[in-house]
Amino acid sequence: LVIVIDYGAQYAQLIARRVREARVFSEIMPHTAPVDQILARKPKAIILSGGPASVYAEGAPQVDAAMFTGGVPVFGICYGFQAMANALGGEVAHTGGSEFGRTVLQVSDHGRLLAELPDRMSVWMSHGDSVVAAPKGFIALAGTDGAPVAAFENLDQQLAGVQWHPEVLHSESGQQVLERFLFDVAGCSPTWTAANIVEEQVAAIRELVGNKHVICGLSGGVDSAVAGALVQRAIGDQLTCVFVDHGLLRKGEAEQVEQDFVAATGVELKVVDASKQFLDALAGVTDPERKRKIIGAEFITSFEQAAREIVLAKSGGSGSADESVEFLVQGTLYPDVVESGGGEGAANIKSHHNVGGLPDDLQFKLIEPLRTLFKDEVRAVGEQLGLPRGMVWRHPFPGPGLAIRIVGAVDHERLAILREADAIVRAEVTAAGLDDEIWQFPVVLLADVRSVGVQGDGRTYGHPIVLRPVSSEDAMTADWSRLPYELLERISSKITNGVREVNRVVLDLTSKPPATIEWE
Ligand code: XMP
Repeated sequence: LVIVIDYGAQYAQLIARRVREARVFSEIMPHTAPVDQILARKPKAIILSGGPASVYAEGAPQVDAAMFTGGVPVFGICYGFQAMANALGGEVAHTGGSEFGRTVLQVSDHGRLLAELPDRMSVWMSHGDSVVAAPKGFIALAGTDGAPVAAFENLDQQLAGVQWHPEVLHSESGQQVLERFLFDVAGCSPTWTAANIVEEQVAAIRELVGNKHVICGLSGGVDSAVAGALVQRAIGDQLTCVFVDHGLLRKGEAEQVEQDFVAATGVELKVVDASKQFLDALAGVTDPERKRKIIGAEFITSFEQAAREIVLAKSGGSGSADESVEFLVQGTLYPDVVESGGGEGAANIKSHHNVGGLPDDLQFKLIEPLRTLFKDEVRAVGEQLGLPRGMVWRHPFPGPGLAIRIVGAVDHERLAILREADAIVRAEVTAAGLDDEIWQFPVVLLADVRSVGVQGDGRTYGHPIVLRPVSSEDAMTADWSRLPYELLERISSKITNGVREVNRVVLDLTSKPPATIEWE
């Protein structure tokens, strides 16, 4: 375990990810955590992240010098580097030499931290103050115009630091610098792999659950699938998965969960066909927010009902095991945990009262086997567990499904039209080998719009389909994908030939902002 101390910049998560990319497990703790609490977790190393503050600013988070004398290797980045210098008797000054962005670094002594790296490197800086003298016992390794000491190390005490941000992609050799610290200064080993995660989680879940029963709601998305598969691997038929089919899925999706997921995991699956309830509740509704609210409420009702049936069935049976259902599996990911301020501790359980809109009286304890993982790690675990590639690498798909891709009221006929068009798009994109380049590709039916067309000798009066392919890193912002014209042409021709009610295909050329990814 490597602990990344968060000094309030947005870089802590990125550092944690980079450490994990080096196959060393890492977690984030806030800078307010007392040193003895940090050391009590017995980290192999500590990394102090950058932060917005100057070490001399009033109220700047100070670093307890005990951090550096606890026998644990420490790496300071940016603010963490200055704080280390300051705490150990080096000199930090406001030189006026602020640097922001790309900066040329001149290496004077490679030491161990910069061994075998170039003498000059382009690195990403963001600082006002600078270290002007390294603490006693440290060797200064490099400098820039604005930062006389931009890197130092003390191998006896296994301490080192850099002024720049090695975790950002713009910093040349950044990952190597982090790995030099982890492996050559701190002596960590690269042992953290998907296989190990599975092994550890399986053991932890077994211990936690004992002989109790567990339920897991599947959404068809990657997180709930991987969480369910992991728990299944641990406790087998003590797990029941619930999949609520709301009738708003794409072609083949319900089958994928029902067949592929079961085939890959052997899980006991309860499929609830709730499409009639959902479509009845949605009848005639055109307002996007009302659609979303109705779907959310119907989902809870269906899941709750299924959970009660399972609880009833299990507790009504007889056998030696305790047959009440005590646990609910959730696919919570690490960014959710960090963002909600709960980055401390390794606990993978907490009492559950009201998660994701579930009602208060549905009381389960939570199992969150992915709560220390990032999305790409979840995918690696999914592959490790043998889930089908199409399930592990699928594009994000919104919970309300096709209902928010039909502009206008939702009914069976419109869903069928959209399903066909969407299936054509997905098949063509996959055939063109572009799945990995596209973040997601909503296909939208403008159900209340009609336009005139001509086919054969006849006039048509059909609906337009909108293509909305986007590229993105996190769905917070997005850009429209520049797809090859030949592909767009093929999609257009196949849809207008294959889906009778559609006589026009249009392309959405808007980024987010100002548009959102989905149309509703
Ligand atoms: P927007 O349309 O807001 O979407 O740019 C951002 C990302 O979120 C997905 N999305 C949802 N996902 N439930 C979900 O699970 C929802 O209600 C929902 N609405 C939007 C959307 O597909 C995109 O990836």
